[in-house]
Amino acid sequence: MSCKVIAITNQKGGVGKTTTSVNLADALTRLDKRVLLIDLDPQASASLSLGLDRYEGNTINDVLLDDCDITKAICQPKYSRCDVIISNIELSRLEIKTLDNPNREFLLSERIEKIKNKYDYIIMDCPPSLGIITLNSLYAADSCLIPVQCQFLAIDGLTQLLNTIKIVQKRKKLLGANLQIEGILLTMLDKRVVSSWQIVNEIKECFGEKVFKTIINVNVKAQIAPTVGKPVIAFAARCPAAKQYKDLAKEIVNNND
Ligand SMILES: Nc1ncnc2c1ncn2[C@@H]1O[C@H](COP(=O)(O)OP(=O)(O)OP(=O)(O)O)[C@@H](O)[C@H]1O
Ligand SMILES: [Mg+2]
Repeated sequence: MSCKVIAITNQKGGVGKTTTSVNLADALTRLDKRVLLIDLDPQASASLSLGLDRYEGNTINDVLLDDCDITKAICQPKYSRCDVIISNIELSRLEIKTLDNPNREFLLSERIEKIKNKYDYIIMDCPPSLGIITLNSLYAADSCLIPVQCQFLAIDGLTQLLNTIKIVQKRKKLLGANLQIEGILLTMLDKRVVSSWQIVNEIKECFGEKVFKTIINVNVKAQIAPTVGKPVIAFAARCPAAKQYKDLAKEIVNNND
């Protein structure tokens, strides 16, 4: 199989992008896939969630701005078999530091080219914005996965995101490339709350086939796992969120086989 590059993106904050990036990357390794997780958020939540020190070693910022060889930025977390490229706050200067670079949206897509043969999946955790970092991710990606929280105002902002995706799709087409929608992932469903189900139905009506069958429930284990640097499957293998992230990985592998 060739490498599939997936951007986990939604400019809305706190919808489960990082939790999904980390746990999907980890779950895919358990299906014997070779996986690289790239932390593209200056907040470095994905790096920290896997117990990695954001100030130790090369970061994605060094790769994008300082000509650090990408292979020298790959590290291994203690509790997952995925490889990781960490991030830190320095990445927030990407915007300003590349202002006069006409190639600024393509830095990441160029850099990952030489390592694609090493991986089945590259998962990218995007920041909550539609700025230059997210654009780099969308140009580097084959598809995007959009986490949507099962709560009031869930679809708010989804139109802007889908419009941005459309613009990138058009431009990529001219370059002979593609940007699929891998799927919309419903996250943090509280099964006891009636209004949550209404939102699930609303989103399914709006987006039909694009919505993953797997839904991620609110689960306290998913919340605690990152505080000890573990993916949820390593932390509590039998909890619902662990099973659901395994199901999501299977669903994605099946869709791509
Ligand atoms: N299934 C879940 N059950 C319970 N809590 C969850 C679940 N998924 C995520 N959370 C919690 O919700 C918060 C937001 O999740 P997360 O950091 O993954 O979102 P995000 O979209 O990456 O946020 P940001 O936009 O700030 O990057 C975190 O505190 C996380 O632990
Ligand atoms: Mg995040």
